[in-house]
Amino acid sequence: MSTVPPAASIGLSTNHAPFIEQARAHGEIFIRQPYELYSEENQETWRRLYARIRPRWERYANRKFLQGVSNLALDPNAVPKLEEVNHFLAPLSGFSAKAVSGYVPAYVFFDCLRTRAFPTTVTIRDGRQLDYLPEPDIFHDIAGHVPMHTDKSFADVLVRFGEFAREAAEHVAGIRDEHERLLRMESILRAMARFFWFTVEFGLMCEAGQIKVYGSGLLSSFGEIEHSVSSPLVQRYPIRLEWVINQAFEINHYQPLLFVVESFEHLFELVHELEQWMKDGRLDNVAPGEPGVNETDLKSFLRK
Ligand SMILES: [Fe+2]
Repeated sequence: MSTVPPAASIGLSTNHAPFIEQARAHGEIFIRQPYELYSEENQETWRRLYARIRPRWERYANRKFLQGVSNLALDPNAVPKLEEVNHFLAPLSGFSAKAVSGYVPAYVFFDCLRTRAFPTTVTIRDGRQLDYLPEPDIFHDIAGHVPMHTDKSFADVLVRFGEFAREAAEHVAGIRDEHERLLRMESILRAMARFFWFTVEFGLMCEAGQIKVYGSGLLSSFGEIEHSVSSPLVQRYPIRLEWVINQAFEINHYQPLLFVVESFEHLFELVHELEQWMKDGRLDNVAPGEPGVNETDLKSFLRK
């Protein structure tokens, strides 16, 4: 006869979380954070991830991020409770972290940003593999992304990007020919994904004459945060929209090419410019290659 393990030992690991699997099976995207399910091993994984990256943040992260970490009062010793994070976050920028069961179709994701909600993964990576994770976990989302959302200018960039996504869906909806509509949407989505990748996820910025990190993929990676700033193997260039939207990237290794913005106001301007390019048809035929655009993401935009 099998016995049901106590709730505290079940865990919410990336590779094993029955609660999440059940939510997905029921098609639930937005969920609660079942905090009671984190195991002691999950808590230990958070402690280890946080302890080792903290000194690297001090050295490589941008000023606004460090201020955000302090403003959020993140506990180094426990997986954060979204409710508590939001208590500190909401008054600063109106943003909140919203628990999700995993993958969120692209349009839904960007539309959440527009309404100042950030879809947040609640599972945490396996403690035996701290370094590389192809999918987000709560460390990436809360420790890598959310401190940036405390900054009003950066938060406004995300909202602007969400508005851009809505504009893009409306823009394409006006194309009569179905085949043409699909092709254009795919190209615009590829451009959007590349822009998001090279800024929000892997962006660098110039701060008082030094290169600092603001991209969350870098801020949540113990190895790559240092590599991105110090390695001679990385090409770092001032951001150029025409390059970013035509530049393929791969997710399974450290990035060999990164782009530098001057400020978050500069980034905001770039999103504005991106929208103008979209309206002018300049995103209709971007260079092929990674990332692939999956059907769910494509459909999520075409339904709007
Ligand atoms: Fe991310």
